[in-house]
Amino acid sequence: MTSSRDFFHSRLGFVLAAAGSAIGLGNIWGFPTQAANNGGGAFLFVYLIVTLLFALPALYAEIYLGNQAQSNPVSALKEACKDSVPNLGKHMGIIGLCGAVMMLSFYTIVAGWMLANALSPLAALLNFSDLSVWLSTSSTTRNLIFTPIFSLLGAAIIHQGINSGIEKWSSRLMPVLLIMLLGLIVYILQQPGAIEGLKVYLIPNFSQVMEPTLIVSAMGQAFFSLSVGVGGMMVYGSYMKKDHDIGKLVLSIASLDMFIAFMAGLLIIPALFVAQHAGFEVFSDGKLIGEGQLIFNILPQLFSSMGSIGLLVSFAFFSLLSIAALTSTISSIEVPVSYLVEEKSKSRNSATWLVSLVVLTASLLIIAFFDTLFGLVIQVLTTILQPLSCLFYFIVVGWLWKRGNKLVATNQKNHSKWLGLWGNYLRYCCPILLTIVFVNVAILN
Ligand code: PHE
Repeated sequence: MTSSRDFFHSRLGFVLAAAGSAIGLGNIWGFPTQAANNGGGAFLFVYLIVTLLFALPALYAEIYLGNQAQSNPVSALKEACKDSVPNLGKHMGIIGLCGAVMMLSFYTIVAGWMLANALSPLAALLNFSDLSVWLSTSSTTRNLIFTPIFSLLGAAIIHQGINSGIEKWSSRLMPVLLIMLLGLIVYILQQPGAIEGLKVYLIPNFSQVMEPTLIVSAMGQAFFSLSVGVGGMMVYGSYMKKDHDIGKLVLSIASLDMFIAFMAGLLIIPALFVAQHAGFEVFSDGKLIGEGQLIFNILPQLFSSMGSIGLLVSFAFFSLLSIAALTSTISSIEVPVSYLVEEKSKSRNSATWLVSLVVLTASLLIIAFFDTLFGLVIQVLTTILQPLSCLFYFIVVGWLWKRGNKLVATNQKNHSKWLGLWGNYLRYCCPILLTIVFVNVAILN
């Protein structure tokens, strides 16, 4: 079965697909919103530290596990734990798979908002003004139409496979995303009020740096942003031939991810201050009004007050978000799809439709009980499930695999001192530090 596996055809293709998974709404919406709410530059600072300390090593461990196993996350973890705790490995793989479905269940809803908002300026240009207003106003009907549309877009790419689907589309969409982002930043920074936002973003307010809530938020954000802990990066790692220098690949993916989050902050925070300057109410008591969702109310209003150039800006902005969301969505869909294809002998087509159906059902549940479920699912996923899975990856790579430290063993064979140190960092420091944070979260709650 493994011999018929599809592969990424180039290293660049792999990096773009993995960066496409990492770069998503978490970077362009989540990161700037959290930064605006948590001391601007101070959040940026803490975010960088926790990414380097935990999220990047977790990304390494996850890709390494998948790459060594050359199979889906459930069998990869089961195989890695086969000498010690095979059942635990399998169950943790399944938990990751559920995490991927959880991620998709709310992500496709938000992605649907982006798509609707991207179409709204087009409707306005074609003089369908009622339609345009409907597309940019949140409603349950809009959710019920655009969430399935977004799931379908993801499914359409996934059913084409790894090389012709994921690799091709990521390589097309990621450069477009970068160009749009740069263009929008240049435009927004020229608007009145933008420079004030730039200062808030770049000058840290260090009085907030040691607040435990800030550290926990930054950690959740870092894990979510690098897409670790749900098996998406593991499955991508498994579609790359063995013997690549994973360290270098991981560094490129994480740098691209952090760079885009940083750039998104340069766009969104100044844009919020431009809106404030134009008379919109954006902050109260230093916090964003209406949590993060305000961006979807304020920014369309701001763009529409800018006349016809505003329509273009709005289209570019929400298309940017839709593209970012799409390349992240496909990596999560691939997790259960690869499991069904390899372990349950389903065809790729039927696995894709089955997974889409399950995700859609979960999304409908969230839409029906939006106020209770939406925030809860995000919180459970990012602050419990993802860090817990990463803790497990560290323990597997450092302790359980072949009853010892597989990384250290491999690296000793290659006579690499740095990699040996890295192996020990993953073995000792990461699990201990992560456990300390966990205990703190438990006490905080
Ligand atoms: N990293 C993506 C983002 O920043 C979200 C994601 C999480 C994607 C988990 C896949 C798996 O938006």
